[in-house]
Amino acid sequence: MRLLLERGHEVTVLDNLSSGYRQNLVSFPQVRHIEGDIRDAKAVNEAVDGVEVIFHLAASVGNTRSIENPILDSEINVIGTLNVLEAARHHHAKKIVFSSSAGIFGELKTLPIREDHPVEPDSPYGASKLAAEKMCLAYSKLYDLDAICLRYFNVYGINQRYDAYGNVIPIFAHRLFKGMPITIFGDGEQTRDFVNVRDVAEANYRAGMQEGLSGAFNIASATSVTINHLAHFMCEASGIKGAIDYAAPRKGDVRDSLADISAAGKAFGYEPSVQLEEGLRAYLAWAREDKVAAS
Ligand SMILES: NC(=O)c1ccc[n+]([C@@H]2O[C@H](COP(=O)([O-])OP(=O)(O)OC[C@H]3O[C@@H](n4cnc5c(N)ncnc54)[C@H](O)[C@@H]3O)[C@@H](O)[C@H]2O)c1
Repeated sequence: MRLLLERGHEVTVLDNLSSGYRQNLVSFPQVRHIEGDIRDAKAVNEAVDGVEVIFHLAASVGNTRSIENPILDSEINVIGTLNVLEAARHHHAKKIVFSSSAGIFGELKTLPIREDHPVEPDSPYGASKLAAEKMCLAYSKLYDLDAICLRYFNVYGINQRYDAYGNVIPIFAHRLFKGMPITIFGDGEQTRDFVNVRDVAEANYRAGMQEGLSGAFNIASATSVTINHLAHFMCEASGIKGAIDYAAPRKGDVRDSLADISAAGKAFGYEPSVQLEEGLRAYLAWAREDKVAAS
């Protein structure tokens, strides 16, 4: 949203604020905010009327939440996405950029993961994201609507809350600043490909501006770190000697993750620019100051 405004675009946001912060919107009075739910076709139609490019990020996020409540997960992620697509069709939007997830791949079979890696999600969340992605691509074949699905790997960055769902960097930061031990599920040698939200925003922008392109693309940093390394780095960078506990691995979590991002580079010039260490230092500085994240 911030990037679109900086680059001179008009923005409408539809968000029910179930996990989004109201404070992230109130500082942008020029944004038209509709407080509504993507499961409500009327609200979605109101938001999409007159819009050229739709960035569809609203979702029930996370494996654990989806395992606990798979029906809600699909109502929001699948039916909600269909509401957005139907509104896009009726209002003649030119493009939808859908926030998909690396969760569609399931357990890693080849490294690094390319877009043609088998899709065998390990959770209802991954399955719902895959269904939504396929719906977007089907609409791009049926109607005059470009659809680009961006398969994010592990996104982190400023403004990310720690309590919405199990995102490791905000949770570790919160626990460090509260003087609580960091808990690692499994042996900590599992790997993740972390991508900064600034790079994700740029990927969305480039995808949104690219005319005549549909398809699914990985969005990541194309580097991976172990969770042990992440935990130790965050202790060092925050200057807090946090205790580290280990617990049983969680269901639905994959062992390894590392993306091949060359397709997005070729198709719309995506190139990550934020190194993990730099992005983590910035995130920790924000999380240390931020009253909500640290409360
Ligand atoms: N954070 C990650 O690591 C990651 C990785 C892969 C994919 N994604 C995808 O990126 C998108 C954004 O994720 P995020 O991490 O910013 O999560 P988030 O929970 O911060 O953002 C989701 C937003 O959608 C809104 N929302 C949720 N349900 C809604 C509904 N029914 N109607 C209207 N608004 C609703 C929330 O209030 C929130 O503002 C999601 O689609 C998610 O699946 C995120």
